[in-house]
Order: sequence, then C-alpha cells, then structure tokens
Amino acid sequence: MASLVSALLLMCLIPLTRAHELRRGLELADDATTARPGGVTVPVHFSQAFYVVNLTIGTPPQPVSAIIDIGGELVWTQCAQHCRRCFKQDLPLFDTNASSTFRPEPCGAAVCESIPTRSCAGDGGGACGYEASTSFGRTVGRIGTDAVAVGTAATARLAFGCAVASEMDTMWGSSGSVGLGRTNLSLAAQMNATAFSYCLAPPDTGKSSALFLGASAKLAGAGKGAGTTPFVKTSTPPNSGLSRSYLLRLEAIRAGNATIAMPQSGNTIMVSTATPVTALVDSVYRDLRKAVADAVGAAPVPPPVQNYDLCFPKASASGGAPDLVLAFQGGAEMTVPVSSYLFDAGNDTACVAILGSPALGGVSILGSLQQVNIHLLFDLDKETLSFEPADCSALS
Ligand SMILES: *[C@@H]1O[C@H](CO)[C@@H](O)[C@H](O)[C@H]1NC(C)=O
Ligand SMILES: *[C@@H]1O[C@H](CO)[C@@H](O)[C@H](O)[C@H]1NC(C)=O
Ligand SMILES: *[C@@H]1O[C@H](CO)[C@@H](O)[C@H](O)[C@H]1NC(C)=O
Ligand SMILES: *[C@@H]1O[C@H](CO)[C@@H](O)[C@H](O)[C@H]1NC(C)=O
Ligand SMILES: *[C@@H]1O[C@H](CO)[C@@H](O)[C@H](O)[C@H]1NC(C)=O
Ligand SMILES: *[C@@H]1O[C@H](CO)[C@@H](O)[C@H](O)[C@H]1NC(C)=O
Repeated sequence: MASLVSALLLMCLIPLTRAHELRRGLELADDATTARPGGVTVPVHFSQAFYVVNLTIGTPPQPVSAIIDIGGELVWTQCAQHCRRCFKQDLPLFDTNASSTFRPEPCGAAVCESIPTRSCAGDGGGACGYEASTSFGRTVGRIGTDAVAVGTAATARLAFGCAVASEMDTMWGSSGSVGLGRTNLSLAAQMNATAFSYCLAPPDTGKSSALFLGASAKLAGAGKGAGTTPFVKTSTPPNSGLSRSYLLRLEAIRAGNATIAMPQSGNTIMVSTATPVTALVDSVYRDLRKAVADAVGAAPVPPPVQNYDLCFPKASASGGAPDLVLAFQGGAEMTVPVSSYLFDAGNDTACVAILGSPALGGVSILGSLQQVNIHLLFDLDKETLSFEPADCSALS
C-alpha cells in the first residue's frame, strides 16, 4: 500500500473546482487530422498528487512542467509578462521576451478563431485572449505560438495559453497543464493525432509513466482484462465543459460478491487525470462502501487523515478487501485491484481512496489513482476508449 497523504489532502478542493467547471460552458471540437508517422512518446512522472510532463517552449528552450489534464481545453503555462495573478511554481515563469520565436496571436488569426472561449471584445486587432475553465480553476491569458518540444516529437510551432491570471493558488509546483480534451487546441489535435494513450505507474514509486500520441498510441492486444467502450454523448449543451471530456457509460460495479447497478440517471463517468481520487454518485458510493466493509469484515476506524471516509485497521484490510470491477457499456470490464484504491493512511490504518460526491450533477469521476497500471487508449475517430492491464513503467 502506497502512502498517499498528499493526494488526499487535496480532495476538499477537487470536487468543488470540478463542479465549478461542469457548470461552465465550453465548446467541443474534434478536429484531429492525420497522425504523425511513428507517433510521439512523452515521459510522464508523478509529482505531489498528479501526473506531470516536461516540455520546453521557446528559442532558446525554456522548461515547463505541466499536469496532464485529458479533459483540458489547451496547453497553458504562466507567463512573466503582464502576470496579474500568478500562482507559485517551481520553474521560472515563461518569459516571452527571452524567446526569439514567440508570437502573440492577434484576434482574427485562424488559431484565435478556433477557440470557443476567445475574448476579443473591444479592440478588433488586439491580442487574442482566452479564458479556460480547468479542473483546477479558471485561468485567463493570451494565446501565443512558439516552438514547443515535448517527448520524442519534433519541435513544432504550437499554440498555447500564456496565463496571466488564475483562480488557483497552486498547481502543486507545476507551471500549467497539458490539455487533451476534445478541442481544437488540445495537444493531440495540434499534433494531428487521432488517438492518444497513457499508462500511469503507481504513485510514489519513482517509476516512470508514459503518454503516447498518434501511431505510438496502441495496446498490446486483446489479453485478459482488455475491453473497449464507446464515449457517450451528453444531453448537456454542446458548449458545456462536459462535451470536451471523455465520458463513459458505467453499468455496474462489482465488489467481491456484490454487484452495484448504476442508477439510470447517474451512470455517466468521466475519465480524469486531473483528479486523483474517484468520486461516485452518492447512492452508489454508499452501496460500495457497504460491500467493501462487508468483504473486509472488520469494523471501520475513524480516518486518520481528513478527506478519507472509509478506513480499516491495516492488518484486517489487506486480507479481505475485494478487487473492484467496473462494467462498462458494451461488456468491457476494468479491474481496479485493491492496491489501486486502498492506501496506507498512517497509524496502521488503510483507507479507501474512493469517495461519494453529491456535487457533480450525477456524473462520476474515475480518478487517476484508480487507473494505475492500466493502459488507456482514446481513439478520437472511433470515439472509443480501449484499455488493458499493463506494467506501465515497462512501456516508457
Ligand atoms: C522533469 O523535470 C524535472 C526537473 O525539472 C525532473 O525532476 C523530472 O524527473 C523530469 N521528468 C521527466 C519525466 O523527465
Ligand atoms: C519585455 O520587454 C518589454 C519591451 O522591451 C519590456 O517593457 C518588459 O518590461 C519586458 N518584460 C519582462 C518581464 O522582461
Ligand atoms: C475548431 O476550429 C475550426 C476552424 O477554425 C472552427 O471552425 C470550429 O468552430 C472550431 N471548433 C469549435 C468548437 O470552436
Ligand atoms: C498538423 O497538420 C497541419 C495541417 O496539415 C500542419 O500545418 C501542421 O504542421 C501539422 N502539425 C504537426 C505537429 O505535425
Ligand atoms: C462470496 O461468495 C462465496 C461463494 O458463494 C462465499 O463462500 C463467500 O463467503 C462470499 N463472500 C462474502 C463476503 O459474502
Ligand atoms: C496517530 O495516533 C496517535 C496516537 O493515538 C495520535 O496522536 C496521532 O495524531 C495519530 N496520527 C494521525 C495522522 O491521525
């Protein structure tokens, strides 16, 4: 059992900011064209509670560390110029002055026109502003383009958000985020990739994870535990934040002998890399809580760390806790082993890193910790998620 206190300390923030995002309108785009031959591999590391990639922007290159947000609208980082409300980050702010290839994009430019949330009010020929609603909070800035190098990709001129004011007080040391949502400016769309995949190694092991874009995004094959399920369309407005996220239909969760059917009105689950811990609609969480407690067979103990809900004495938890099986539309079944949801919380206590969430409008969230050692492939053409168990650190 890994110790994961840092991730859980964030939990009071995340459902709230996510709920905030869900209320906001952002438009969907799925404009990917042809993939680069060979594809791109991007090393990913775990930091604090999130999976992070290193990239560079500019000439000469300036380092940027960015949390992967598969539902995110664009790639963005904080810029030194005009920063009105910047959060603290480990690396220096991106200095547009120090890059000979940086170009602020004006309103009217094609790249600006492709952003639903652009702000060009008032000054017709002015700078292209954007306002992104992210899982972490809102962030606003200017759209620029510059030479971007990420993973094995050839350096390419890509558009990114030069953030000058953000709602959040921290990105846990990172400088911004890499968005992979169904938008025109996602990293995948800009790389012309019609598919991406990622495989997250367990946190706090120091092992590397990987993100694959284009042709390199492929699974080993239809082994045991593999499956495919379609993205679902929402009935929310087409410009809703949900529409650029990857949503699936979850039919049931099995925990040991118990099968918990998802309610008709609450069977949508969002795959997220920007939320560490799974949040289930309340009624389902209550049933799951009972099933896990029954299977463990020991009396729950009070959580030693805030934000956990269900904890057991460590010795009794390890034996009886069941693997969880997520049964998706189309028969695909994803196994979440005990090691991916039961964590050492200190004081000889093990706690379940799954919570109930009343504030999410009936949409559950599959958190990144529960996706560990599963290779997930998002096919943007077929609009499907395929997955298989994998040793993620062996793929990168
Ligand atoms: C990214 O850079 C940081 C230092 O800024 C380093 O500690 C980390 O290992 C790097 N990650 C990868 C995947 O290269
Ligand atoms: C960038 O350059 C402009 C114009 O030379 C200057 O006014 C500004 O102070 C510089 N900003 C930074 C952060 O270096
Ligand atoms: C994506 O970009 C194209 C081309 O600029 C634009 O027509 C389209 O509206 C954009 N998609 C969205 C949802 O804004
Ligand atoms: C993506 O395709 C567009 C249009 O064909 C091209 O201009 C651009 O250079 C491509 N981008 C990358 C990163 O290959
Ligand atoms: C699950 O079912 C098996 C076989 O029927 C039974 O032996 C076991 O006690 C059950 N476990 C629980 C936790 O009910
Ligand atoms: C662990 O237990 C000790 C003794 O009961 C207590 O003082 C301490 O606060 C506990 N730590 C946590 C993180 O709950």
